[in-house]
Amino acid sequence: MTSATRARRHLVDGLRREGALRDPRWIEAFRQVPRHVFLPRFFLPQGIRWAAVEQDDPGWLPTVYSDSVLVTQLDDDPDRWALARRSEPIAGVPTSSSSMPGIMAVMLEELRVADGDRVLEIGTGTGYNTALLCHRLGAANVSTVDIDPALLLPARATLAALGYTPDCAVADGEQGYPPNAPYNRILCTCSVSRIPPAWLEQTRTGGLIVTTLNRPIGAGLVRIVAGDGATGEGEVLARDGRFMPMRAHRLADAGTVLARRAAPVARRPTELALTTVLDPGSPFEFFVSLELPGLSAAFDPDDGQGCFLVHPDGSWVRHHTDEHDEHFVEQGGGRRLWDAVEAAYARWQALDRPRREQFTIIVNGAQQEIRLAEQRWPVDPPAVSA
Ligand SMILES: C[S@@+](CC[C@H](N)C(=O)[O-])C[C@H]1O[C@@H](n2cnc3c(N)ncnc32)[C@H](O)[C@@H]1O
Repeated sequence: MTSATRARRHLVDGLRREGALRDPRWIEAFRQVPRHVFLPRFFLPQGIRWAAVEQDDPGWLPTVYSDSVLVTQLDDDPDRWALARRSEPIAGVPTSSSSMPGIMAVMLEELRVADGDRVLEIGTGTGYNTALLCHRLGAANVSTVDIDPALLLPARATLAALGYTPDCAVADGEQGYPPNAPYNRILCTCSVSRIPPAWLEQTRTGGLIVTTLNRPIGAGLVRIVAGDGATGEGEVLARDGRFMPMRAHRLADAGTVLARRAAPVARRPTELALTTVLDPGSPFEFFVSLELPGLSAAFDPDDGQGCFLVHPDGSWVRHHTDEHDEHFVEQGGGRRLWDAVEAAYARWQALDRPRREQFTIIVNGAQQEIRLAEQRWPVDPPAVSA
């Protein structure tokens, strides 16, 4: 057994133990498809910068077979890796990656494929997830698109070298991929602020779409059952996943609001911990994203450590926890943002603390809502100008 095969088995055993991987057909796909051939180079975080790693560097293989997201592109620029390799670690915003195998496993299982299903994957990236789909369904049933030719072309070549020849196209996945429609399944591995109506139109009635919602706080997986035309109904899933956004769905940077923030009002105590709002494991996190859409978190630009919450309307709050575990806030901007967060928390408690999996999603073309019994929130609320 090669060291790559051993490392891969170890990864699969871990994914099975934690319950990310359950279906024997997907277990076999993860056992057979090599991840390392899709990751000859990538970036690893070093503080707030990114260091370039290459095949045969010490630790390369164990890193490839760890349950980690590995960033493969910064700033939509294919030349950044070579620059980082030649010089010191560089700053940049991740724009492509090989996603965490654990999250890939969850998404693939939630896709509930059956033999013979025709699948469109949006966001080819390295091609590793495409290879898993090809292994499970046969390449003839798989189409994959990425908007970036600098990613798609090497992914296609790596897939072909492994013997997989799905339809790989450079295309804007927001439009789906009409040439091979209709599909039984659409899987999008970048996150979306709203469900593109084209996806529903290109999915057979009763077919499934799995994707993640693009929200700075409260992101998460949804699965939608396609209805007729551009309609569908689905659910927010308990198992979570967070992905980089589709290009046209990128959000404004929270730092811009912070840079022009007004003076704070007086500091006051609060009972609410910041983790209750921000931690993906907190059941309130999804609800606060519905009540205060656009809410995001940012490190303090002055010391790089303290944490702010900011809203696109220009309001902000800085949350502190002292050495006695007492919480305090300072707020500024047009409204008192932390007061609004506390009001959302009270409302969440009054609704009996609903968890993300109790919410449904309804799509009717551009009309898209998240629902909880009689409550309604827009999937993609209108932008508020700062
Ligand atoms: C998290 S990566 C995908 C990971 C990939 N599935 C893998 O296994 O390596 C997200 C990808 O979505 C792509 N993307 C962003 N916007 C897109 C769009 N409008 N259409 C198609 N692909 C898009 C990015 O170029 C990026 O490669």
